[in-house]
Amino acid sequence: MPKIAVELAGLKLSNPTMLAAGVLGTSASLLRRAVEAGAGAVVTKSIGLEPRVGYPNPTVVRVPYGLINALGLPNPGVKEFAHEIREAKGAVPIIVSVYGFSSDELSKVASMAVDVGADAVELNLSCPHVKGTGSELGQDPKVLADVVMAVKDAVNKPIFVKLTPNVTDVVAIAKAAEEAGADALTAINTVKAMAIDVETARPILANKIGGLSGPAIKPIAIRCVYEIYEKVEIPIVGCGGITTWRDAVEFLLAGASAVQIGTAVALRGLDVFRSIVKGIESYVRRKGFRSVKEIVGLSHKL
Ligand SMILES: Cc1cc2nc3c(=O)[nH]c(=O)nc-3n(C[C@H](O)[C@H](O)[C@H](O)COP(=O)(O)O)c2cc1C
Repeated sequence: MPKIAVELAGLKLSNPTMLAAGVLGTSASLLRRAVEAGAGAVVTKSIGLEPRVGYPNPTVVRVPYGLINALGLPNPGVKEFAHEIREAKGAVPIIVSVYGFSSDELSKVASMAVDVGADAVELNLSCPHVKGTGSELGQDPKVLADVVMAVKDAVNKPIFVKLTPNVTDVVAIAKAAEEAGADALTAINTVKAMAIDVETARPILANKIGGLSGPAIKPIAIRCVYEIYEKVEIPIVGCGGITTWRDAVEFLLAGASAVQIGTAVALRGLDVFRSIVKGIESYVRRKGFRSVKEIVGLSHKL
């Protein structure tokens, strides 16, 4: 059997799949269910310094080939979430997704998460629907670099920077993150989007604008990973529209060392992990490779 274990920014994963931030990762028991279902690592819902209620409903709308969501980062705050991190710790790496309204706030949340057991932190510098945080910090290379440097100073665990596709030049943002000390990049978060109800003539989401996820965004995410891989050395985690093993393999060929799965878990359930892992393994064997690492970035080399 080919090897499908990967090492990523010092984290050891038994396979290259991870639960994406925000989908199911709201409690220790849900995180553990993703692990039991076969995820090689799990990412929590994005957590901030203070509790947040999020936006009123509707917060999610189904569209052809995806979802548009504007949840508004609801979360109980890092103090309250600490026991979930402690309880979720176990068989696979747990990566705590953090957001904040300043580099100081992000550093505080990240260091509190690490103190209670996070194996790594993922900086959400890419949420497209909350003012003053997320993509507002991640769309400007200078602002992003300041945040990454501050968090790097505050914690001694790997830092993943989650990138927004809602920029003109995603490579410039990726390079700024790498130069500021990021250990890995996650590409991508949702694509800014909206939907209008033609009967009422009103925007469907309470926040009007949200982020598109699911198969609709996969080609955008593949392009981002492919472009970033050409210019940065740190590992990339591919994310966006992965539903089948073929999607996952496409990301690996584009240059991702691992993949995250969100919408497919929400729409199809946790079984997607097992079938994607099995499919990656048989693809690698069928093509005659000894390890999944041999296909990372392969499409650049042919
Ligand atoms: C309902 C929902 C909630 C999400 N919440 C977060 C979040 O809290 N933090 C974050 O960084 N990304 C969040 N995301 C984005 C996903 O982690 C992922 O980047 C995006 O959905 C693309 O992957 P997918 O097509 O596999 O879902 C959320 C996505 C969805 C659909």
